[in-house]
Amino acid sequence: MKKIVVLSGAGISAESGIKTFRDDDGLWQNHRFEDLATPAAWERNPQLVLDFYNQRRKQLYEVEPNDGHRALAQLEPYFEVQIITQNVDDLHERAGSTQVLHLHGELKKVRSSINPDLITPLEGWELKIGDTAADGTQLRPHIVWFGENVPNIEQAAIIVSKADVFIVVGTSLQVYPAAGLLDWVPSTAAIYLVDPTANPSNRYKNLSFMREKAAKGLPLLVNQLIQSHLNTI
Ligand code: OAD
Repeated sequence: MKKIVVLSGAGISAESGIKTFRDDDGLWQNHRFEDLATPAAWERNPQLVLDFYNQRRKQLYEVEPNDGHRALAQLEPYFEVQIITQNVDDLHERAGSTQVLHLHGELKKVRSSINPDLITPLEGWELKIGDTAADGTQLRPHIVWFGENVPNIEQAAIIVSKADVFIVVGTSLQVYPAAGLLDWVPSTAAIYLVDPTANPSNRYKNLSFMREKAAKGLPLLVNQLIQSHLNTI
């Protein structure tokens, strides 16, 4: 079976109603990430950090996957599909994708303040000061903040290095090390970029870009990939 690897970012969830980070009206246009998404911010004002992620978690219970997430799940009967997402939502999983690697953590999980491996699911949307992990420390959001290691990046690079087809959707590719995963794509693999602001690049061989929103572009691309697969068998 051919292996399709997808790198997704905030744009794939935009049409579900979740804001991206760097578009006009994106989260980092209206909030200072230094106040909300760094270990120093957590030290300084944990309540502010909790409030920010509580609001985002609450919203996650109110939104649904869109046709972009659903299209990717439809690839699975035909291909080995691995999603690598920078998103902390669970919309890929809820759309039916079974292999999803989260690079930047997950909103619905929380963890110990001192042990990054002590991770548990959170019941409901609200994490409060005083909620403690099994080691007795304050629970914090299971989010990779700026300045922190990305524990899943090596596993992601190995997955990408085996791709036959690599799809990039809804990411500005401004945040490393996630953006560097493109350098692990084999030179023989076809790369597709689905993003309304996608620009042609001659940095990568075999790159096609679709300047469409995910909920329209991904169903088109997925249909194309399934059809050409069916034509070869
Ligand atoms: P960005 O906000 O940086 O980029 C969003 C991308 O989505 C842009 O390229 C948009 O053009 C595109 N886009 C917008 N609407 C779209 C749609 N309907 N369909 C497809 N694409 C669309 O988001 P990310 O690249 O995901 O990290 O940001 C990377 C990381 O930066 C995030 O994981 C987050 C943030 O800080 C953490 O919080 C740790």
